[in-house]
Amino acid sequence: MIVSAASPNDLDAVLRLEEAGFARSERWSAASWANELNGDRRLVLVCRDSVDVVAVACFSVLDDTAELLRVIVDPAQRGRGMARGLLNVGQEWAEACGADRMLLEVSQDNSAARALYASAGFASIARRRDYYGPGRDALIMECALQHPALAACGRGWA
Ligand SMILES: CC(C)(COP(=O)(O)OP(=O)(O)OC[C@H]1O[C@@H](n2cnc3c(N)ncnc32)[C@H](O)[C@@H]1OP(=O)(O)O)[C@@H](O)C(=O)NCCC(=O)NCCS
Repeated sequence: MIVSAASPNDLDAVLRLEEAGFARSERWSAASWANELNGDRRLVLVCRDSVDVVAVACFSVLDDTAELLRVIVDPAQRGRGMARGLLNVGQEWAEACGADRMLLEVSQDNSAARALYASAGFASIARRRDYYGPGRDALIMECALQHPALAACGRGWA
């Protein structure tokens, strides 16, 4: 698995993952992804096989708090540790930016994502009732990041 920072040229491939990963009503638009790919204090990571982009994850940092905004793996490539690999790299980047925690929001009914986040150190800290529609609560999850001051130098991320 090769993990790298995405470039604006990866937009089409990322949109294909978006289509494969989410129902139409939940998809991010091309404009949203273009903002992430070009944004400040943002990191979009992709996994590639020999040719294609097969997974993507998107992170932001503001002051001491990072956010995991999106993670999608090609359905044919799931269950191989790609999402966790992307999360680990994103967590390192956030530490290097000085963040001491990472937050995310997930639908309570997304059991695969919730299991992934738990395995990466996230715990649920709040619930937004009916956030995704009637009966579909959002969970806010948090993960402590380690040694932000030590990590701040030398990884070349920020
Ligand atoms: C959620 C998603 C990103 C997981 O990607 P993945 O590459 O298959 O996940 P990994 O292989 O890295 O799994 C890491 C851990 O997550 C958990 N996990 C992942 N998929 C799971 C599933 N379907 N059921 C239960 N646990 C699961 C497991 O604990 C797993 O560790 P293990 O294999 O050692 O047991 C993928 O299913 C996906 O793209 N879903 C659609 C988009 C989405 O809902 N994204 C999240 C919200 S933005």
